[in-house]
Amino acid sequence: PQQMLLDPGYLEDRMKDISLKAATPSQKIKEGKVDVIESVETTHFSIVDTEGNAVAITTTLNSYFGCKVMVKGAGFFLNNEMDDFSVKSGFPNQFGLVGSKANEITPEKRMVSSMTPTIVEKDGELFMVVGTPGGATIITSVFQAILNVVDHQMSMQEAVEAKRFHHQWLPDRIVLEEDGLSASVQKKLVKLGHDFESRGQIGRVDAILVLPDKRLEGGADIRGGDQAVGF
Ligand code: DON
Repeated sequence: PQQMLLDPGYLEDRMKDISLKAATPSQKIKEGKVDVIESVETTHFSIVDTEGNAVAITTTLNSYFGCKVMVKGAGFFLNNEMDDFSVKSGFPNQFGLVGSKANEITPEKRMVSSMTPTIVEKDGELFMVVGTPGGATIITSVFQAILNVVDHQMSMQEAVEAKRFHHQWLPDRIVLEEDGLSASVQKKLVKLGHDFESRGQIGRVDAILVLPDKRLEGGADIRGGDQAVGF
């Protein structure tokens, strides 16, 4: 956000804690507040070609600039999927996920990946292609998009736009988008002892649904200004 970084008001604010009389302890110096420059860099594509072949791809750097190693001569970063391994028992990764022995950094173990590129079939025929970025919330978002179509009879676009909520065991709280649950449902859940954390947006689902007449309906997530295109 070049304009924001060069804005005189922003710069003045950044200068405020510079003292010419005494050294400022580094602990007291924090970054400036600007719009998000980088995301955690995961993206998803759902594709169906003219022959009816389907592809669901979720790909990630898994945090800002991945593991910060640029491949010389190739121009891309290596990802930071190592963060999805459990570094030690009870220690959460960047998404708050707590792994177990099965996810230790030793041979033959697996990372706690949530990435869920999904192709759904119905009676052996292609029914839906779906996926999303979102770290630990990915499985939830994909599941809710499928449920919205199958159980709540939404169109693909409606299913993608519908508000989302998420729980991942630890941290023990329900994350939800604004109006992700009605006030009355939230009240009942509070009574049962649930805690909430609101989040601007959960996921960025892009999906394709095969309609009964075999036409395709794309669902592009308005959260990311995404787009569905056809042929
Ligand atoms: O494999 C995983 O589950 C994660 N590393 C995915 C990362 C991700 O979705 C970051 N997101 N926006």
